Amino acid sequence: MSDERPPERSCDFPYLHGFSSTEQARLVKQAKLAEPTVFHDIDYTGARNLLEVGSGVGAQTEILLRRFPDLRVTCVDLNQAQLSAARTNLDAMPWLDGRYALHRADATNLPFEPRSFDAAFLCWVLEHVPAPARVLNEVRRVLSPGSPVYITEVMNSSFLLDPYSPNVWRYWMAFNDFQYESGGDPFIGAKLGNLLLAGGFRDVTTEVKTFYFDNREPARRKTMIAFWEELLLSAADQLLSAQRVTPDVVDGMRREMQQVQNDPNAVFFYAFVQARATVY
Ligand SMILES: C[S@@+](CC[C@H](N)C(=O)[O-])C[C@H]1O[C@@H](n2cnc3c(N)ncnc32)[C@H](O)[C@@H]1O
Repeated sequence: MSDERPPERSCDFPYLHGFSSTEQARLVKQAKLAEPTVFHDIDYTGARNLLEVGSGVGAQTEILLRRFPDLRVTCVDLNQAQLSAARTNLDAMPWLDGRYALHRADATNLPFEPRSFDAAFLCWVLEHVPAPARVLNEVRRVLSPGSPVYITEVMNSSFLLDPYSPNVWRYWMAFNDFQYESGGDPFIGAKLGNLLLAGGFRDVTTEVKTFYFDNREPARRKTMIAFWEELLLSAADQLLSAQRVTPDVVDGMRREMQQVQNDPNAVFFYAFVQARATVY
């Protein structure tokens, strides 16, 4: 692991989800739950040396290494607690030995030489970065020509839960306002195409992916709604201490999420965006 000690954030903004062990376990669960959708169209065939930016606790790293046996992954994250959890998680899988490296660094200032990698993967990280264009600039700098980049990002205005749940809605608006005002962008998914074009990437394509569950798949619907409650709760401490929500709204949100989870006609809908581009 690199000894460099950059600041915890590229500026003084709080990180929405925090770094508790509950949050770290949530990231592992999230990666597994989303894997069939996130990885359905990702193809790193031919790549050997992949850069993963904002690698968190290594949950996606494990998936990348499992799906693409020729890959070696270099992980970068700004937060030491995430990197330590990634070390623990990945070291527990000895079959991945020697195939990953962990670096503490700011994605806007990567500690690598130009053309160090031949692929890149970013998932749920640009939404937290105040200067996503700077990150993309750095990613492009350290990739060799012809390298594929996949970026998967949130599009939070797409969320729908039925039956209508006013406290969930209040909480969700506060969640997004807080992220936006903290320097992140909960709607960055739809902007990936423009960001990549402006950053000099080529062959830019985007795909809208959905988590869409109704009476056709009641078990998966229930799992997703339960997970979504955990996602919402991951921001509760921050939102409460910033006085963006009251304890009543948090309690109401939890109650409503339980009700929707048990509603025989519930609908859960969320769309996000995955972009692919090439470096020249
Ligand atoms: C929501 S987590 C996603 C982690 C991982 N990509 C996944 O899908 O499980 C976002 C991660 O980005 C990291 N991060 C935020 N800003 C960063 C920056 N400027 N440079 C590097 N990592 C950053 C956070 O520390 C956190 O671990």
